[in-house]
Amino acid sequence: MVGYQFMGKAHSHAYRDLPFYFDVSTTPVLKAICGRKEESVKEAAEKMGWESYETDWRKLIAREDIDVIDIVTPNHTHAEIAIAAAKAGKHIITEKPLALTLEEAKEMYSAVKEHNVGHLICHNYRYAPAVQYAKKLIEEGLLGRIYHFRARYLQDFIMSPDFPLIWRLKKEVAGSGALGDIGAHSIDLGRFLAGEIQSLVGTKETFIKERPIGEMSGGLSASSDFSSVGEVTVDDACAFLCRFENGALGTFEATRFAGGNRNKNEFEINGENGSLRWNMEDMNKLDVYLAKDEEGLQGFRTINCTEEIHPYAGAYWPAGHIIGYEHTFINLFHSFLEGLYQDKKDYPDFEDGVKNQAVLAAVEESDETGGWVNVPS
Ligand SMILES: NC(=O)c1ccc[n+]([C@@H]2O[C@H](COP(=O)([O-])OP(=O)(O)OC[C@H]3O[C@@H](n4cnc5c(N)ncnc54)[C@H](O)[C@@H]3O)[C@@H](O)[C@H]2O)c1
Repeated sequence: MVGYQFMGKAHSHAYRDLPFYFDVSTTPVLKAICGRKEESVKEAAEKMGWESYETDWRKLIAREDIDVIDIVTPNHTHAEIAIAAAKAGKHIITEKPLALTLEEAKEMYSAVKEHNVGHLICHNYRYAPAVQYAKKLIEEGLLGRIYHFRARYLQDFIMSPDFPLIWRLKKEVAGSGALGDIGAHSIDLGRFLAGEIQSLVGTKETFIKERPIGEMSGGLSASSDFSSVGEVTVDDACAFLCRFENGALGTFEATRFAGGNRNKNEFEINGENGSLRWNMEDMNKLDVYLAKDEEGLQGFRTINCTEEIHPYAGAYWPAGHIIGYEHTFINLFHSFLEGLYQDKKDYPDFEDGVKNQAVLAAVEESDETGGWVNVPS
């Protein structure tokens, strides 16, 4: 694994817990972790249970005792590391967004195809049991024709003008702001549940244009000595309206300026026979409305998706004993590792990453031109 902060912690935990909850054919062995500062990476390796560490990712990739490279570094590093790992014949796990640009994303996809290695992009929210159950209900036709997919991903962690200029706020490191960081998750949920996005019109805004220079300090916290300021070069917020290939209409909003909303990743789907809605901050629950319900009793019912029948839920606790954010990663990696060695692929891969990146690029293009943009298929 390259990188060891927020996602490094989430991924390390998931690898360790995976064989605890699932009967697996493949058990992850935490061979080596990589970071640039020896003292910190050594400490991280000990804390998170990795056997060894490296300070140069090229050395990590060259190691023969490693089968899978997991990339949990800022977005501008994904392509170079992934392409080198593919050339070395390693399977690859990469955090989202896949790359900085659509071109880079396509190069990554070509590399994994050419070298015939496994590839995963970490759209973990698909793996909440309630979201997997929503997918199953849609595939079984419960909603009938889909009319609307409505998604909002609302955060507020950078609202203070004193919040530092971290890597997430620099275009050359992050690619885009709220759009690629959190909007990419909503786009993935839209593609997973409602299908491909055909065309869109969007806009974005940067509310605070200069900030004190600083660094991430774990999770979504950051620090600064306030000695200098720099320019914010990505969006603070964005929104787009779209048409799906199946004729549904979509609306998406992603912002880090929605005060009071810490990680409100939510969607609602309206179909001819019913509606579904979900919100990450109450992630075990799925709201279901069915038009066929008796008159007078119609309305959203709330299902606690912790029963054996709900996908992945049976691996954990008895019904009603809820799970959390970290379990989405365990489920994601279970799906990848089982698919990788048993040919049962149903996880998001670099092809999904490229299609997602095409939507991100289309939103940027639409913001520049002010018009509708076709998303390349
Ligand atoms: N799936 C999710 O829910 C989710 C959540 C947060 C972040 N992410 C994604 O995960 C990735 C990492 O984000 P994070 O929040 O863990 O970031 P972070 O800032 O917490 O950690 C980044 C890590 O990368 C290392 N690093 C930074 N620059 C580097 C470089 N040039 N070369 C090598 N290592 C470098 C840092 O030392 C640190 O260990 C990003 O792509 C981000 O978009 C995904």
